[in-house]
Amino acid sequence: MKENETFYSIPWEDLPPTHYVDNRIFCDQKIFDIEQRAIFSKVWKFVCCESELAGTNDFRTTTVAGVPLLIVRGPDAKIRAMVNSCSHRGVKLVEEPAGNARKFECLFHRWTYDARGRCIDIPREEGYACVKIDKAQCGLKQVRCESTRGLVFVNLDDDAAPLEDYLAGCLSVFDDVFGQVELEVFHFHEQVLDTDWKHWQETNMELYHEYLHVLNRKTGMIDPAYFNRTWHAFENGHMAVDPLIIQYEKMQGGASREQHTLPGLKPNEFRLLDIFPDVMLNCRASVLRIDTQIPLAAGKTLVQFRGLGVKGEPEQMRRQRIRDHAEFWGPFGRNLPEDALATERQKETMGKASKYSLMAREENRLTQDDFPVREFYRQWERLTGLRAASASMLPE
Ligand code: FES
Ligand SMILES: [Fe+2]
Repeated sequence: MKENETFYSIPWEDLPPTHYVDNRIFCDQKIFDIEQRAIFSKVWKFVCCESELAGTNDFRTTTVAGVPLLIVRGPDAKIRAMVNSCSHRGVKLVEEPAGNARKFECLFHRWTYDARGRCIDIPREEGYACVKIDKAQCGLKQVRCESTRGLVFVNLDDDAAPLEDYLAGCLSVFDDVFGQVELEVFHFHEQVLDTDWKHWQETNMELYHEYLHVLNRKTGMIDPAYFNRTWHAFENGHMAVDPLIIQYEKMQGGASREQHTLPGLKPNEFRLLDIFPDVMLNCRASVLRIDTQIPLAAGKTLVQFRGLGVKGEPEQMRRQRIRDHAEFWGPFGRNLPEDALATERQKETMGKASKYSLMAREENRLTQDDFPVREFYRQWERLTGLRAASASMLPE
């Protein structure tokens, strides 16, 4: 290598393999397919909040690891998940993202299912007598579904350990909030991003990127305590960072959120929890934001954003919460568009102009240490059997 080139090169081969990743993991469709099989088909996946299925026969649809799912609160108040595909010849049964229905009728040959997923009608059923099939055998395939603290999770793997084992106690970070009042979703939007799902999740973990966010610089990073928070690792790749008091009054037009901070929190308190692989709970005093993702392809993901406040609160209070949410996280707020801009630009160079990504900051696991990202990729490696840093270990 010529002398004048060496100055510009990070000595990747001298780094521990835990401290960088091969950027092909963000753009290789073969790796995406392995992730779908080895991660998203195996873990407990957050799908929605119980408050979104408040009434009998309320339903939502979603997709996990490419499998379309129907989540329904039945007449017995139980929330069930089932594969959203007709038992007859596979037609996707429900197209709407959400709604309320006592029964679901397939448009193709009119097989009909109830809110528990039982097949309740087959037109001219007697035609199947020759093969001894009747509707009692034709229900929708049930998928494991468990809730905790008002959050609904599903798991495609019948052999997976229970949800609470998977969470490994990480939701205790928010127990004092969940335990005080009932929360409900007041905001939902989703966005397709031209970036890999892991890049989006990285923005929820590595806080070194907060230099990107002008509001964070003005209201959080001005406080020396900002840099001295510790990251805590839970089993199975979940991560939380110590809380911080945010100075909202320091931004232009900003005001303290003291009067409407969620019960259980200190005035203006910020908390953050990442649940492996794709979920973030981020609380900015008055609003809890929950992100989850439906990865679509290598370098393309659909992110769903929820905002939660106190169920049944006065209208005036709700309006304030909506304003607080929109300021940072609404589609036209500051932070989400900033993260989207950065991660979409990042995707443009992956595996082409940019071969590796550096995750080498060590600061005793404090705020801007890359520790949470490194932990994320260790869990990713455990489940996929791949080496994130080593191109030679990636499938041909
Ligand atoms: S595919 Fe649904 S009734 Fe035939
Ligand atoms: Fe961000």
